[in-house]
Amino acid sequence: MNISAELLSFLRGASRAVALTGAGASQESGLRTFRDSQIGLWAQYRPEELASPEAFARDPKLVWDWYAWRREAIKGARPNAGHYALAEVEKKIPQFTLITQNVDGLHRMAGSLALLELHGNIQRVRCSECGEYAETWNEDSETVPRCDYCEGLLRPDVVWFGESLPRNQLERAVEASRACDVYFSIGTSGVVQPAASLAHAAKKNGAIIVEINAETTPLTEKADFFLQGKSGEILPALVKAMWG
Ligand code: OAD
Repeated sequence: MNISAELLSFLRGASRAVALTGAGASQESGLRTFRDSQIGLWAQYRPEELASPEAFARDPKLVWDWYAWRREAIKGARPNAGHYALAEVEKKIPQFTLITQNVDGLHRMAGSLALLELHGNIQRVRCSECGEYAETWNEDSETVPRCDYCEGLLRPDVVWFGESLPRNQLERAVEASRACDVYFSIGTSGVVQPAASLAHAAKKNGAIIVEINAETTPLTEKADFFLQGKSGEILPALVKAMWG
């Protein structure tokens, strides 16, 4: 991977950076991207039909089972070289914020600490009624497990379509994006708001936009640098070129 001298020089001058990651960042960990995850039993549903409060109200068991299936897929997954490279960047750039739309927890597993999980975490489960987190639950239960406190149905602690993002996390993400010198958009199709608007907030405030993606996206034409390829290859190459 050939990283341009111009990009490296921008990065050397950056003291505040933000990276937003999407499902593509976990693709090399063996996880299917969001828009590519409907296979087998689940091929007949669009993710939007499963990841919503309406879907849960209509058929809680169907939604619970879909998340149990995704949790199972994530169980064996390990961070890839891209996750580790981002954990490394955090140690090098004084103010670095990693914002992820992924619910798989792989950034944390790779050692990233300055992390905002905008869409929640699939490994956490909470009550759909009282909000209390569940420590344990029966994954193989015939029915949707219930809350120990109020008997409400348990649900994954992720953000569904039509739900608001965790306010505090979103505020911090917007703040960091507005203040950064360089903004990376990595492995995300950039079509879901409000995460997608963070790049625009960054650009408006003068940040350099660097996109890393296997394909072009709506952001590509606005990006200052577009590095096409796999994040698990490009990010380590970038770290190596920067810090040896
Ligand atoms: P998508 O599945 O929409 O997009 C994945 C992106 O990753 C695409 O642009 C691919 O080209 C790119 N890609 C695939 N493999 C890659 C690789 N190895 N390296 C780099 N790029 C790669 O996933 P997201 O953009 O994450 O929200 O989707 C955003 C949100 O939409 C999800 O968090 C989810 C969904 O609605 C909620 O559930 C609230």
